[in-house]
Amino acid sequence: MSPALLLNNGHIHSNEHRPDGFATNAIHVGSEPSQETGAVMPSIALSTTFKQDAVGVHKGYEYSRSGNPNRDAFEKAVASLESGKYGIAFASGSATTATVVQSLGPGAHVVAVNDVYGGTFRYLTRVASETQGLEVSFVDLETSSDEAILSSIRPNTKLVWIESPTNPTLRVIDVPDIIRLVHSHPSHPLVLVDNTFLSPFYSSPLLLGADIVMHSVTKYINGHSDVVMGVLVLPQRHVRLAERLRYLQNASGAIPSPFDCWLALRGVKTLPLRMKQHGLNALRIANRLLDSPYVEEVIYPGLIDASRHAIALASLSPHAAKFIDTLPADVVAHGVPYGGMVSFRIKGGEGAAEKFLTKTRLFTLAESLGGVESLAELPALMTHGSIPKEEREKIGITDDLIRLSIGCEEVEDLIDDIDQALAAAVAQSTSLVDDLTVKKAHAAAIVHHINGVHPLHA
Ligand SMILES: Cc1ncc(COP(=O)(O)O)c(C=O)c1O
Repeated sequence: MSPALLLNNGHIHSNEHRPDGFATNAIHVGSEPSQETGAVMPSIALSTTFKQDAVGVHKGYEYSRSGNPNRDAFEKAVASLESGKYGIAFASGSATTATVVQSLGPGAHVVAVNDVYGGTFRYLTRVASETQGLEVSFVDLETSSDEAILSSIRPNTKLVWIESPTNPTLRVIDVPDIIRLVHSHPSHPLVLVDNTFLSPFYSSPLLLGADIVMHSVTKYINGHSDVVMGVLVLPQRHVRLAERLRYLQNASGAIPSPFDCWLALRGVKTLPLRMKQHGLNALRIANRLLDSPYVEEVIYPGLIDASRHAIALASLSPHAAKFIDTLPADVVAHGVPYGGMVSFRIKGGEGAAEKFLTKTRLFTLAESLGGVESLAELPALMTHGSIPKEEREKIGITDDLIRLSIGCEEVEDLIDDIDQALAAAVAQSTSLVDDLTVKKAHAAAIVHHINGVHPLHA
């Protein structure tokens, strides 16, 4: 590696002063060889406390809740990938959400996209509303007019919460347009983008003007389904807010462990490689599903014929746009890679959907997403099972909707797996009615048992 200079913003500048690219930053930022031992990979700093040479004189660390070398390294890396200045890592995506909402103080109002992640919905409506008198309006940020969006903003609106594409129907929000609109309002709310589904590879909300980016690191950033963590990234102009968030985090102790930070930093190094493969595989699978006689509808915003394809394309990050530019014409003939999530409606209804999910060999039936392994789930009974059926169907979460988290396996193997599971499921779905009735009753009992609150994992 040629000598390089690490700048304050976390980016590495080479001697030629050309900023390093996304993949270079993913591998090098936060992972500088140890000054002390020369170790190329950072060691794990498990110590909870740090020696002071005199009172208050130390090497930047006092107590591991307030700061830890592995957490710092991970935060620096993610901040550079999101083109931000301040990264703040948390114990989970949900702890990240809670801390942002706490920072708004009492009596604030939040506008959130109407099919926001279920755990975020739960925190806003069932926790913050009780503990800090938070008011929330859920707005369809995909189809509402500018006037409707502006009129949802009140004098006490402190934050607009965007997620795009939404889960599991992958509705695409016009992020730059919403940011422009919200910032034009005299209440000056902050705009936060939950960038979990696209990862910093496909989307760079701070470059589009967002004030805060958040991730459930549990998903693509870590990428190996073995860490639960969250992160926030803020631009330089929000130094005071970043300090406040850190203060709250230290006060509540919502911190990730050094080992999780170390694992997540290892995940970051391969984020661009993984995201390219997730996207290429997802595009191939979306096209295959389009051709299947067993499928009613395919939802993947990367497909040319997807209703919001142009909007998805327009807000791609510069590095994703560059990647797509290098792809051969036959790969992008019917669409472009746009993350690794694909949803589809199977013919034959819920019976066929359940059968499909037990017939796959490589796709594991499980909640969550973003790991290198492919997963499949039935949102109506799993991740979104606590939403009443009528409400679910209004937002497109029908009983035949299957969500796939496309992994990085050989795409031909994944396609074969889907083909055989579809054939088995749709051909045999009618014989499943009795079995299905039993399963539905069982699922309803579980949801009832946990008092209407589903785990809402992903
Ligand atoms: C979009 C999104 N945001 C936030 C979260 C919460 O993250 P965590 O499970 O790490 O608490 C999730 C989890 O599935 C998610 O999908």
